[in-house]
Amino acid sequence: MRKKLTFLGIETSCDETAASIVQEKQDGTGKILSNVISSQVDNHNKFGGVVPELAARSHLENIEFIINKSLKVSKLKLSDIDGIAATAGPGLVVCLTVGLNIGKAIAGFLKKPFIAVNHLEGHALSPGLEKKLDFPFLLLLISGGHSQFLIVNDINDYRQLGTTIDDALGETFDKTSKMLGLSYPGGPVIEKLAKKGNGDKFKLPLPIINKAGCNLSFAGLKTAILREVEKNKIDNNFKNNLAASFQKTIIKILKKKTKVAIDEFKKISNNNFNHFVVAGGVAVNKDIRKNLKLIAEQSGLKILFPDPKICGDNAAMIAWAGINRYKKKLLNDLSVPPKSRWQLDERAPFMKGPGLKL
Ligand code: KG4
Ligand code: ZN
Repeated sequence: MRKKLTFLGIETSCDETAASIVQEKQDGTGKILSNVISSQVDNHNKFGGVVPELAARSHLENIEFIINKSLKVSKLKLSDIDGIAATAGPGLVVCLTVGLNIGKAIAGFLKKPFIAVNHLEGHALSPGLEKKLDFPFLLLLISGGHSQFLIVNDINDYRQLGTTIDDALGETFDKTSKMLGLSYPGGPVIEKLAKKGNGDKFKLPLPIINKAGCNLSFAGLKTAILREVEKNKIDNNFKNNLAASFQKTIIKILKKKTKVAIDEFKKISNNNFNHFVVAGGVAVNKDIRKNLKLIAEQSGLKILFPDPKICGDNAAMIAWAGINRYKKKLLNDLSVPPKSRWQLDERAPFMKGPGLKL
């Protein structure tokens, strides 16, 4: 019997310093032997967002400790590891460099395979740790920096169906929270307040909802929230109602555009797919999960989410992507650079910024 692959994953693309040991299982899923995450949220909270230099310094200070801890928790030694996977992009280059370089150094020293992982592929494949994914599948990736619908044909083979033309969904949660004087990251606090508020209190716009295709847009929604914040007295009642109205609006947009993406993929694939994966930090949101589950069921699809513990940034998803890429012989040499931009579908137009076309 072939030895079960065991990988060390390293993640430093943004504000979490993370290391994890993951082992493949006989049934094609994976076992997380350790998943150590050091969040820098408190460092960045007072700035309402991530400060790159602060984040990079904190990664440098913590990374060795975090990797050692991940080994200790897994009860393995570095010599038991079959390969090293580190996030190479997209993200802040000063941050990526820390994890990427230490991953390369370990791989070089141990003479073990090295895999440079796209952070987004980490999120995309993360539910596969628990349940074997049927390719091709539809993916909705909703995180702090990205909001996209993709067809995942296979590992390393993606086709983008739609993306945000302005802000990412997680970023919109974060900005909304900031406008309401609440903490960073915004998602968890908005979700909590939304439970106490009236979602019909504020009528917020649904940008490009009736435009063909499954692109997304959240900038207009953000502006509308700013208007409400300027017009109203910001007390707890207002915060709860605005959070609830905001979340209800997001859910309307996601439901509509998910239906469009499902129809598009059904046409392209002759109805030949079963799984709908929703991943990324925003996918932890219970109300979003519940509503997208309904849409999937109506379309006869099985919806899969990552375990909430690995929805946000973590290194288990990086180790897992590393194992999957290794099995496809997608190895990297140690000269691989960090990439601030790195789309899963490299053919897709880059939609953010000036010159974008709707
Ligand atoms: O995937 P992730 O950890 O980092 C990126 O790759 O960007 O996603 C972080 C994003 C943040 O914007 C955060 O506000 C959002 O995920 N988030 C949530 C929730 N928890 C985190 N959004 C909505 N509801 C939540 N409960
Ligand atoms: Zn992420």
